[in-house]
Amino acid sequence: MHSLEQLRNDALREIESARDEKSLEAVRVKYLGKNGSISAWGERMKTLAKDERPVVGKLLSDARNTVTAAIEQRGAKIRAEEEFDALAKIDISLPGTPHEIGSLHPLHQMHDRAIQIFRRMGFALAEGPDIETEWYCFDALNTPADHPARNEQDTFYLPDGRLLRTHTSTVQIRTMESAPPPIRVIASGAAYRRDELDATHSPQFHQIEGLYVDKNVSVADLKGELEFFMRELFGAETEVQFRPHYFPFTEPSLEIHVRSKALKSGEQWIEVAGCGIVHPAVFEAVNQARGDDAYDPEKWSGYAFGLGMDRLAMILFEIPDIRLFSQNDLRFLRQFA
Ligand code: DAH
Repeated sequence: MHSLEQLRNDALREIESARDEKSLEAVRVKYLGKNGSISAWGERMKTLAKDERPVVGKLLSDARNTVTAAIEQRGAKIRAEEEFDALAKIDISLPGTPHEIGSLHPLHQMHDRAIQIFRRMGFALAEGPDIETEWYCFDALNTPADHPARNEQDTFYLPDGRLLRTHTSTVQIRTMESAPPPIRVIASGAAYRRDELDATHSPQFHQIEGLYVDKNVSVADLKGELEFFMRELFGAETEVQFRPHYFPFTEPSLEIHVRSKALKSGEQWIEVAGCGIVHPAVFEAVNQARGDDAYDPEKWSGYAFGLGMDRLAMILFEIPDIRLFSQNDLRFLRQFA
């Protein structure tokens, strides 16, 4: 056997027994490095007789190619084994890092649903502050100074005379003061009253207010649109009743009651909203504040409504107690995630 073949076989044996990349590299240097024993044959070729050169040249290139390929193969195998060992050290049965994802509060979900329906009917979203003046909460809404709603026992007053709004109807006035008719807005948010906290009353509750002012707006528009809203929300089989009522800021005034066999409340009528045709005195108050005649009650008419959002959510999600909305009990909230 030619000594090049001997070298090649030695190299292949050492490559096979190399256990890591470091010892494999040592084998490569030993045989194929600059001073490696196979490489040395390159120099030696020049000293050989002419007829010997092709034979030895062939042996040399065979040794180089075979050893190079073997090193590559062995290297790939070693790397694969190392990777496998590293992964085997990871205990995939260990619990992961928990990543809690929040969800919307049921009242927020109720708000979103209602707004989605009203948007389709062409209502835009309006806003107003929770801390209000008596003007926006009462005076402009035709609610005289001797009205019981203004009693300090019923309403939260601040030392400077401002108060927490007792309803979202304040946004009606703010909207009309800042823009001429036609108006088609809803506003949703918190309202406050000095109520004892029990299963159905809370000093903070939530309303959705609506206002539509245009030419020739009538009770027919009001009934048609609010009936549509109730059926969209509670289902097509929902029955809607309008009962005569009194509000200072509407004339006529109505209460809306709903009933549906699909709901848990079944046969029972439930009051869900107040509404009516905007009182001319409200338009007059707005004109006074604006200093113009934009809301001339002879030219314009409108309907307005106030929905009890907590009540709607309690019916829709079958929630028995209004206090659950504010207790932040995760066992309750998770049911709406
Ligand atoms: N503001 C009334 C309340 O809180 C609800 C209401 C009734 C709002 C009639 C309206 C309305 O806009 O027209 O009880």
